[in-house]
Amino acid sequence: MNDFIQTSKSDGVSSIRFNRPEKKNAITADMYQALADAIDHANGDPDMRCILFLGHKGAFSAGNDITDFAQIAMSGGKRTSMAVFEFLQRIIISQKPMVAGVDGLAIGVGTTMLLHCDHVVASHEASFTTPFVDLGLVPEAGSSLLAPRLIGHHRAFSLLAMGEKFSPELAREVGLVSAIVSSDDLETAAMDAARSIAAKPPEAMEITRELIRGDRSDILSRMHEEAELFGQRLQSEEAKKAFLAFMSR
Ligand code: COA
Repeated sequence: MNDFIQTSKSDGVSSIRFNRPEKKNAITADMYQALADAIDHANGDPDMRCILFLGHKGAFSAGNDITDFAQIAMSGGKRTSMAVFEFLQRIIISQKPMVAGVDGLAIGVGTTMLLHCDHVVASHEASFTTPFVDLGLVPEAGSSLLAPRLIGHHRAFSLLAMGEKFSPELAREVGLVSAIVSSDDLETAAMDAARSIAAKPPEAMEITRELIRGDRSDILSRMHEEAELFGQRLQSEEAKKAFLAFMSR
């Protein structure tokens, strides 16, 4: 278990919370492993019928911990953890429906993981960015395949390549977000959605979700392709320069 990932269970909902508010819920390798374990646990528990991801007021997640990135880059790739891919694989293959409640920052994987969720509730204060290229990196989590499919080429390019910030309104318009509520109502609304999913007949829910999502082998294969390129980019001069710039602000 990891203190920065909190889990709880109620009413058939397995809640998984990013709990590192002092670092805007930036995700370390240990946190990815704890996330992967929590998703496995929820999928293996027949009483759990929905997974709910939450962050904190002002920060769903600032994405991958850049200090972790820098350590991998500076070690010449020797310090590589596969935990991030364990997590990404779990969200791609999860059989249980996944809901997210997003207030404030959703950066990098904080946004791309939402492409795998079935229902996303955002607050008016939410913002979505994926500054991969600014960091000398490339998209991950199968987002280079899923984003253009979901939101079209031009908008996917704005998000993934240009690093433009999406407001909750734009995110809802393009289909990244299901509903927008006030910041104060965010957690209740996300939990209500998760509970309502959990209360439905689970077999019918699972079959319906499988039909809607379809075959995921292309997403897994794209995730692996992205991971290979991402690993190479972590060693690039462009990336090292960006990490140093962030750490010496
Ligand atoms: N990795 C590591 N640490 C991070 C982080 C990240 N992704 N995001 C935020 N933090 C840390 C900051 O370094 C700071 O730590 P400190 O208090 O020890 O100095 C703390 O979280 C608070 O962040 P701060 O930058 O002071 O808050 P802010 O409101 O001014 O800005 C962000 C918040 C998220 C906009 C800014 O921190 C940022 O741009 N982070 C990087 C996001 C990113 O590029 N993620 C990777 C995507 S692939």
